[in-house]
Amino acid sequence: MSDVKLEDIVSLCKRRGFMYQGSEIYGGLAGTWDYGPLGVQLKRNIVDAWWKFFIESRDDVYGIDAAILMNQKVWQASGHVDGFNDPLVEDLKTKKRYRADNLLEDLGIEGVAAMSTTQMDQVIEEQGIKSPDGNQLSKIRQFNMMFKTNVGVTEDENSTSYLRPETAQGMFVNFKNVVDSFSPDMPFALAQVGKAFRNEISPRDFIFRVRELEQMEIELFIHPDNWKEEFEKWLQLQQDFYLSLGLPADKLHKIEVPAEDRAHYSKHSIDTEFDFTIGQKELGGCAYRTDHDLSSHANASGKNLKYIPKDGSEAFIPHVIEPTFGLDRLVLAVIDSSYSVDEQNGEQRIYLKLPEHLAPVRMAVSPLLKNKPELVEKAQEVFKAMKQKYGSVIWDDNGNIGKRYRRQDEIGTPKCVTIDFQTLEDNTVTIRDRDTTQQTRLSIDEL
Ligand code: GAP
Repeated sequence: MSDVKLEDIVSLCKRRGFMYQGSEIYGGLAGTWDYGPLGVQLKRNIVDAWWKFFIESRDDVYGIDAAILMNQKVWQASGHVDGFNDPLVEDLKTKKRYRADNLLEDLGIEGVAAMSTTQMDQVIEEQGIKSPDGNQLSKIRQFNMMFKTNVGVTEDENSTSYLRPETAQGMFVNFKNVVDSFSPDMPFALAQVGKAFRNEISPRDFIFRVRELEQMEIELFIHPDNWKEEFEKWLQLQQDFYLSLGLPADKLHKIEVPAEDRAHYSKHSIDTEFDFTIGQKELGGCAYRTDHDLSSHANASGKNLKYIPKDGSEAFIPHVIEPTFGLDRLVLAVIDSSYSVDEQNGEQRIYLKLPEHLAPVRMAVSPLLKNKPELVEKAQEVFKAMKQKYGSVIWDDNGNIGKRYRRQDEIGTPKCVTIDFQTLEDNTVTIRDRDTTQQTRLSIDEL
């Protein structure tokens, strides 16, 4: 693991306009972060890469965009009203609340992930574990993480709804719609990108664990006989996608989730963990959700959600393989693994070694001196041409050239183009490479 700390990453992200604390001028709102101009572009580039990889380049995946607010019956049938819980303990004196498993993990207790609530209670009692303020803790109780709200003007049980805690359910409730519209062959998948909300007991580690998050999820509908091979195939695709974002293979780890720690809907889950600066943590997952969701929705809604095979064989409720990606965690993993430090002319240099297709700015164009109109005019001409060609190109004439390079390095701009006096003579420019800092001369036509 590198010497880089999470604080270094947070500081760069704030300084350079990737992310800001949510509602910062009012002291913030725990578990929320706002994406600034560069952060939103980086996030968008990751979404575009994902959409291209899993939807545009295939003919068996259908993209959708379902509403965040859904009928409360969706969440009753899916099991989230009863089962989407985290273990909560309370400091009996200060009334501050903590997630019990996090509290034990922070104390270095091993095997917490596999412990039941009773086992965690036992550890707290036997080891005399106190709250971080040194007070006695309550027994653990289950805390439902869904944000409740009311739809419409009346606030009663019938108007209750929830901000969705996963995007997946939007795809299950649209399964029949897509089958009716497109008659897809099995296996096929629905996919969507969107916000999800979880009232996390202890949001932490910057955008790693937040209360308002974004997911990119795929629900693959299969015949149950094929679940193992489809699971392996999509787990591999998930890995291929991570690698396509430039995440180093040796930092990605596939971990089988033990039965007692799996989500209520899963029969088999493999998480991919990533070596973040904060340690090896979950990046995304792949779950075999069986027919849990479609069968539950068929029972609760009274609708027939069976798939009728085109070969005339018996209709059946499809089973589901779900590769899920946490978008905020992917953004963090990409920044984390790109964050680099070296030394240039005796000075420390920080740069983000982002893959070119993800960099929020692909190229910066500058005149060597901003008080020379002939240089500025030529540089503007190059800037406009490059912007038309590459889109995310910026104009940078702020400070001296050294300062500009430092700034562009920190935001991960792969190339800086400078227009100098020689440009006016022979139409060549210098192009500087972010990673090597090498400068080469190139004709403008070759850019
Ligand atoms: N539909 C399946 C599902 O939601 P999950 O493991 O609960 O599964 C999927 O969440 C992914 O969403 C996680 O692997 C993680 O990347 C991301 N995620 C979950 N909770 C999060 C949180 N509080 N903050 C940021 N990302 C989160």
